[in-house]
Amino acid sequence: MNEPAEVLISGELELRRWRTGDVDVLDRTIHESLDHLAPWMPWTVNAGRRHTAEFLSRSHEEWETGQGFGYAITSQTVVIGSCGLWRRIGPGGLDIGYWLHPGWGGRGLATQAAAALVGQGLRLTGVDHVEIHHDAANSASGAVARRLGFTEVERVPVPEGPEAPGQVGIDVAWRMTAEQWTTRTAREHGRRVI
Ligand SMILES: CC(C)(COP(=O)(O)OP(=O)(O)OC[C@H]1O[C@@H](n2cnc3c(N)ncnc32)[C@H](O)[C@@H]1OP(=O)(O)O)[C@@H](O)C(=O)NCCC(=O)NCCS
Repeated sequence: MNEPAEVLISGELELRRWRTGDVDVLDRTIHESLDHLAPWMPWTVNAGRRHTAEFLSRSHEEWETGQGFGYAITSQTVVIGSCGLWRRIGPGGLDIGYWLHPGWGGRGLATQAAAALVGQGLRLTGVDHVEIHHDAANSASGAVARRLGFTEVERVPVPEGPEAPGQVGIDVAWRMTAEQWTTRTAREHGRRVI
């Protein structure tokens, strides 16, 4: 399999491929989430309708060229965040990113969305690991990786230094291998059966 499914179902969530026609809904969701995203996401300084349209157009291109797979996180068709898988960590790997509208935090939904991306990413041909990277000060992001059983593999200063106001400029990398994920999901499945 060379590209993931365009729609992923994970519990109450549906992740669906971003479409270029999503400008209004994405722009509104970003606008409502700005204060919550700004400490961690450098691109928020340019947020606005034009930036949103560019993001969606880039997402389309990335999907078509297999460089990245961006999804809207939706709950009962309401867009509540964004996530995706990107080929930016070298051969055999995919990097997972996510953000949530603040009204939907604290319920395990980012973890649920990331779990769907892990399962899907590790099914792609030639992919044997996925990673989550975040700034060392962003403990909420790290907690998603920890809850899913990722292993912290690296902490390195970012050469450019902090890029957003909440950051300290240290990149923390977490990794999940295909083998670890298979073991983990088999164990989870066993728990449910028992
Ligand atoms: C990173 C981010 C998506 C994490 O969101 P989150 O709400 O903390 O994560 P989840 O949706 O997985 O929810 C986890 C919380 O729900 C709780 N929870 C409730 N039910 C749960 C369940 N069934 N499963 C897991 N967690 C559950 C957890 O205990 C946790 O709460 P706590 O942090 O108070 O312990 C969010 O903080 C965000 O959008 N940040 C700004 C953007 C950003 O930093 N993105 C990452 C850049 S690297």
